[in-house]
Formats: sequence, C-alpha cells, structure tokens
Amino acid sequence: MDVLVVGGGGREYAIGLALAKDPVVKNLYFAPGNGATLQLGQNVEADDFDALADFVQEKGIDLTIVGPEAPLVEGIVDTFRNRGLTIFGPTQKAALLEGSKIYMKNFLKKYNIPTARYIETSIMDEAAEFIDELEPPIVVKADGLCAGKGVIIAQTKEEAKEAAARMLSGEAFGPAGQRVIIEEYLDGYELSLFAISDGKEYVILPAAQDHKRLLDGDKGPNTGGMGAYAPTPLIDEKLYRKIEERIIAPTIAGMGKDGVPFEGVLFAGLMIVDGEPYVLEYNVRFGDPECEVLMPLLKTPASELFYKAATKDLKNLKVEFKEMYAVGVVLASANYPYGKSKPSEIIIDDIVHEDLAKHAHICFAGVRLIEGKLFATGGRVLVCVGVGETIKEARDYAYFLAGQIHFAGKKFRSDIAYQALEVNES
Ligand code: AMP
Ligand code: GLY
Repeated sequence: MDVLVVGGGGREYAIGLALAKDPVVKNLYFAPGNGATLQLGQNVEADDFDALADFVQEKGIDLTIVGPEAPLVEGIVDTFRNRGLTIFGPTQKAALLEGSKIYMKNFLKKYNIPTARYIETSIMDEAAEFIDELEPPIVVKADGLCAGKGVIIAQTKEEAKEAAARMLSGEAFGPAGQRVIIEEYLDGYELSLFAISDGKEYVILPAAQDHKRLLDGDKGPNTGGMGAYAPTPLIDEKLYRKIEERIIAPTIAGMGKDGVPFEGVLFAGLMIVDGEPYVLEYNVRFGDPECEVLMPLLKTPASELFYKAATKDLKNLKVEFKEMYAVGVVLASANYPYGKSKPSEIIIDDIVHEDLAKHAHICFAGVRLIEGKLFATGGRVLVCVGVGETIKEARDYAYFLAGQIHFAGKKFRSDIAYQALEVNES
C-alpha cells in the first residue's frame, strides 16, 4: 500500500513512522513534510488540493491521511472523495465541530451532551447581559479558528466584556471573532480522549494527557503542548464508560443523524468536574504531541486502522493496543511560543545504549535539511518519545534521549507526566 500523509509536524512524523514500520506500506509520501520526513519517504509540494489529488492519482497512492485541521476545515476530504480517492479525515461540514465553536456548542445542546452553560451571540449587549449573570472567571471564545488563541479566561466581568468587545468588533481575530461564545468556567482537571470513527463505528484510543503550559508545574503561557503521555491513570474504568456513553457515542450517532457522519479522529477536550465529564472543545484531528505517544502504543498495523476507517469498514477490525506506556517530551526552540528563533544545527549524540534505541525515538517537527544537515528552525522542534512497562520507565527513556540531543536555545519541561507519577505513588 502507498500512503500520503498531509502535514509536516511531529504528529505527521509519528503517523509516518508507524506506517514506515508496517510491512504492508511500500511508498510513503508527505505533503509538505519536514526536513526529517525525508528519512521516511518523499516530500511533495502542491499548490492546492486538486494539484495534490492529481499527484495521488498519478502515483496510484492508495490512502491519504490528513494530520492538521486547516486542510480539513478547507475541504480537502471533499475534493479527494469527489475524485474517487480514499482519504482519512472528516468532510468540510463535519470539520465544523472544530471550525466553529458555535456549531459545536449547538450540536452538543441538541443531543444533550454535557458542556459548559453558554450563549452564542454577535451582539455586544447580549454578551454583556449574560456576562452579568455569571460569576468570574468567565470564558469568552471566538467562533472560528484562531490558531489556539481564541479563548480568553477573564478574571473579572469587565475583562470579559472587554474581550468580547474586541472580538465582536473584529479587532482581535478578524471574521473568526465576530460571533462569540460566552460560557461558564468549569473548575476541574482536563483530559483528552481520541476516537477514530468511520462515520458509524468508533474505536477509543488510550487516554492521553497533554501539558499545555510552557513551564514546569503548569506555569507560564499556553503552547501547542510541551509534552504528553498515555495511558493516563487520571481516568478509571467508570469515568471512561461515562465519557463513552455520554459523549463519544452520542456525538458519532448525532453527526450521523444530522447527515454529516464523522469520519476521522474525534479529539474530545474534556473537563472533569467532580467525576463528571464535560466537553470543552472538539478537534477533528489528532492532538500534537498526543499523537506522538499514541502511535507507538498501537498494536494493530497503522495502515489497516486508517484504511478501514477511511473505507467505512471499522466493524471488521479489532483494534489492539500494547500494554505499555509512552511519554513524549517536546524540545522547543529558544523563542517558542513567542516568536521565531534562529535556525540551529541539531547534534544527536551517538546512541550506544541498545536499550535506549529500543525504547526511545524522536518525532521531528520544526526541522529543515540544510546542505545535508538537520537544523532546528523554530517552534516545537521535536518530541522525544520513550516507551516502557511503566510511566516512570517510559519517562526515563524519553528524558535520557532528550539529554542526547543538542541545538542552540533548546528548552523543555522537566516534569512531563508528573501528575501520573503522583497518582501512582499515592
Ligand atoms: P478550547 O480551545 O475551547 O479547548 O479552550 C482552550 C483552553 O481554555 C482549554 O484547554 C481550557 O484549559 C480552557 N477552557 C476553555 N473553556 C473552558 C471552560 N468553560 N472552563 C474552564 N476552562 C476552559
Ligand atoms: N496538544 C493539543 C492540540 O494539538 O491541540
């Protein structure tokens, strides 16, 4: 089977790595890929979805897997399907679960799926009225995609009103903010759960925890994610069942009923309040770096999972996971998440330790090949992934590997999976 992976981050590298290890996969392509996906396959540049579909047709590529949300929200799946190509991901309409917070909240309300109490509006007076009904902190969200920046947790009513006004006027996020959600603040702990669906059947993946803040102890600014691990002990069988019954199953069924079957990865961002799960957000793709820790736990061949999900055939597949743990530590560049960083060569020590090579690997993200050498080019540069029998073992491997990698300005959190270790020790 020949496969194209759309995207060029650590998430797509992780999917590519799982496919590269799968004997069924012959040729692997990435669009656009990065400086390191060249070690796994070929990088492809295309001007638009039609040009990419032309390439897929010419090469006879059997399956396309889409990593990031932007092409999904822009309709890559529709273009490929209209041309009879097999592609894994939601259609443009189904991708509204991520592309429009208002669509998502109204969908949740329609199917009685638990979420924070809210209103949606484009009128400042309405926003102000609801803000006055709530107790701070108050959450203000832009409707559209804002590269992860469209959520404000306001500590006072005044701050909430200001945020809403800046969004509604278009000043803050342009058209993406001209409709907003105002919602109550949920006080609990966050958990993400991923389900892969073919529109009807679904498979829930081991629960992962992401570390969004830049600094140890969950301090500093929000980032795309500084590390993740799975499975997390923060979820037990009872909670898992609740999430499946109250959230995942009714979402897949509801999307089907609404005539927009959800095919692809449903990423449920949840808040657990007193043992009860609420949906904070949906994404329609894998999280990054969550994907990097989920892929190595997959026992079922990756090609089979994605192909069957893309061809409405999940019911004929028993998806299995290894009874292991994976921990991923992000190495980011000097100015992340504030701005660009100067490219810097990546030096990796010779890994003589056989055990380390077996239990740890790198997923490359912000890297470019310059004159045959790999350079860190900014943002999140790579993820060190350790796999072990326990979280501690997996984490030790990941951190050992992180110590073997050098580039100017390298920074990382030293406490990934700390909550899991506290739970296990108590
Ligand atoms: P979202 O993009 O909607 O997931 O929001 C980004 C982050 O804001 C979440 O991961 C939470 O940390 C926080 N957040 C969003 N909505 C709420 C809420 N209703 N209550 C508490 N925190 C929230
Ligand atoms: N790690 C969170 C995300 O990918 O949105």
